Amino acid sequence: MINGKTKLFAIIGNPVSHSLSPAMHNAAFAELGMNCAYVPITATNIKETVAGLRHLGFGGASVTVPFKEEVIPWIEDVDPKAVTIGAVNTLVFDHESQGVPARCRGYNTDWIGSNRALYQAIDLHGATALVLGAGGAAKAVAYGLVHSGTVVTLANRTMEKAVTLASELQCAAISFDQLPTHSADILINTTTVGMSPHSDRSPIPAELLPHFRVVMDIVYAPLETRLLREAKSSGCKVIDGLDMLLYQGAEQFSLWTGTEAPVTVMRKALERALDIH
Ligand code: ATR
Repeated sequence: MINGKTKLFAIIGNPVSHSLSPAMHNAAFAELGMNCAYVPITATNIKETVAGLRHLGFGGASVTVPFKEEVIPWIEDVDPKAVTIGAVNTLVFDHESQGVPARCRGYNTDWIGSNRALYQAIDLHGATALVLGAGGAAKAVAYGLVHSGTVVTLANRTMEKAVTLASELQCAAISFDQLPTHSADILINTTTVGMSPHSDRSPIPAELLPHFRVVMDIVYAPLETRLLREAKSSGCKVIDGLDMLLYQGAEQFSLWTGTEAPVTVMRKALERALDIH
């Protein structure tokens, strides 16, 4: 029930119409009986959008593609970890007094989401991980792993990008040709390979999957990617892409409300939204 006291939250990006985040956050607000609502906003100009939210009294926002980097100059206080990752996916607005525009804090919860998803299956400290990809998602995932004391190696189709990211994060890089001789506790796919409508593809040959104990895919459409299906057949523990989405959202929820997020309800809402999607 929306009324005069409802606190608003948003996801800002372009496009956002297919986002699963409204289902997840609104389910959490309803579960805890909070008078809050979360809406999708298609943004065209990130500076004006942030100004609009701060003047309209929004409590916070998720930031998604293509604005995670572009939003940074328009935030007063950016968390140092988000500065290192070079991307902000969460805004928190502090309304100190009525009629005064809010101050804005920026965070990155993607790396926390990835770590929390992995912690369901394995202790990260001292583990080894191979991360496939070298884009924005790879950077957040690899940052989280390095931060937790995991020994990380990156592999990417375009090797130079893996080498550049590895030098930024002080980890190792290998070429795709070296994959057959590499093994690690954890394998994470951060590339788009296997995403619908190309769900018949996998980023790594099935015969290499016994080289890993835990396999996580950040692709969630389909929920069981070919990579995860083959990893399961090879005896690996698997973590699907909804878990990273869930746990980065759970961290956002805590930043906005100061309350622990109801993750079971949020996960169910994501699964339902994915079915309709
Ligand atoms: P994001 O910010 O979501 O990580 P991105 O920056 O576009 O997205 O990165 C996409 C990643 O998927 C890259 O690592 C890309 O590899 P390249 O750097 O070589 O382009 C990887 N990727 C996309 N399509 C691929 C394919 N068909 N085979 C292998 N890697 C692929």
